[in-house]
Amino acid sequence: MSISIGIHDLSFATSEFVLPHTALAEHNGTDIGKYHVGIGQRSMSVPAADEDIVTMAATAAAPIVARHSKDRIRTVVFATESSIDQAKAGGVYVHSLIGLPSACRVVELKQACYGATAALQFAIGLVRRDPAQQVLVIASDVSKYELDSPGEATQGAAAVAMLVGADPALVRIEEPSGLFTADVMDFWRPNYRDTALVDGQESISAYLQAVEGAWKDYAQQDGRSLEEFAAFVYHQPFTKMAYKAHRHLLEFCGHDADRDALERALGSTTAYNTVVGNSYTASVYLGLAALLDRADDLTGRPVAFLSYGSGSVAEFFAGTVVAGYREHLRTEENREAIARRKPVDYAGYRALHERSLPADGGDHSTPAQTTGPYRLAGISGHKRVYEAR
Ligand code: COA
Repeated sequence: MSISIGIHDLSFATSEFVLPHTALAEHNGTDIGKYHVGIGQRSMSVPAADEDIVTMAATAAAPIVARHSKDRIRTVVFATESSIDQAKAGGVYVHSLIGLPSACRVVELKQACYGATAALQFAIGLVRRDPAQQVLVIASDVSKYELDSPGEATQGAAAVAMLVGADPALVRIEEPSGLFTADVMDFWRPNYRDTALVDGQESISAYLQAVEGAWKDYAQQDGRSLEEFAAFVYHQPFTKMAYKAHRHLLEFCGHDADRDALERALGSTTAYNTVVGNSYTASVYLGLAALLDRADDLTGRPVAFLSYGSGSVAEFFAGTVVAGYREHLRTEENREAIARRKPVDYAGYRALHERSLPADGGDHSTPAQTTGPYRLAGISGHKRVYEAR
């Protein structure tokens, strides 16, 4: 009999500041309906000057290692597309900040917003090889587009940490997966840029093509039928995208995509993404956190996941929610991570957006802004310096 493997614990973190879309709309003269209804976003997380993907990742992962033994974690897979170094894995800093044992492998993975799903699947493979081991999967990203570009309204920042192991307490991940890859240029970030480039309409149609392709492969692999799923957790670059994607899938499968059907499938999955903004690799798992925290009892119910990463790679797979999962949720902490953010005005956001770490190799400290447990204290000799607060 095959063992049950999946998500044993899930915790997320986001930034110190938040910019409401009303402030952006006021700045650029956009009707707020375009943001609130047209793309389904109400606010976006904005990292403080002393926060980055490492501090958010460590903040997300710390409660997991506080609750479980560190000794079973022999692998950390850090997924990101806003990496801070071309060589060193961001997860190595996190490994140190949260005090994991040295007998551990740490690696960084990249394929746009899809990376965390690759990490999850690789983690499952490692656990299947040795069910006594657990893998810490971390997805951490800062979504950053040029000021005054269409993408600006779909920025955000968050990290999700997941403990993957045998006999999981939250969600058992199933086989098969439906897979899809296509070489498209819908969204990318060359190494010399710190803001992403995106062809918005191309990214929507590439996403829809990937949903269809991944679903077709899932069906060919003898996956579940669409009617079996209690909910659908999509990657959400903006929450309206989940609605576009699910409508496309329902219609492709010959179903009515009426408002009720969409709301039933997606309604509980967008609550965190709509106020956090795009968190790239973390986005689909922030959707899962919202679903588990908010939906009626899902015990024993299959949930569908559609993970999409521009460029593009997509995966459709299923997870079954485990009996007793509610006792292991971090609902209060999750709400607090969002509620504790301090509103920043447009000028403050713009100043943070325009900041970058000095590249001259000198000693530079960063302003003390975050009230989170970890901070980027500065940069010295081209080395980022982190500290616990
Ligand atoms: N009230 C309600 N809805 C409104 C509105 C208003 N006053 N004004 C516009 N809208 C709607 C539009 O009809 C459109 O809806 P639709 O897509 O269902 O037709 C939506 O708001 C967006 O309008 P659009 O003109 O397409 O906006 P845009 O040119 O600013 O682009 C994005 C929006 C999302 C494409 C852009 O922000 C972007 O490229 N973001 C990055 C996306 C990304 O990250 N992709 C990569 C990963 S998948």
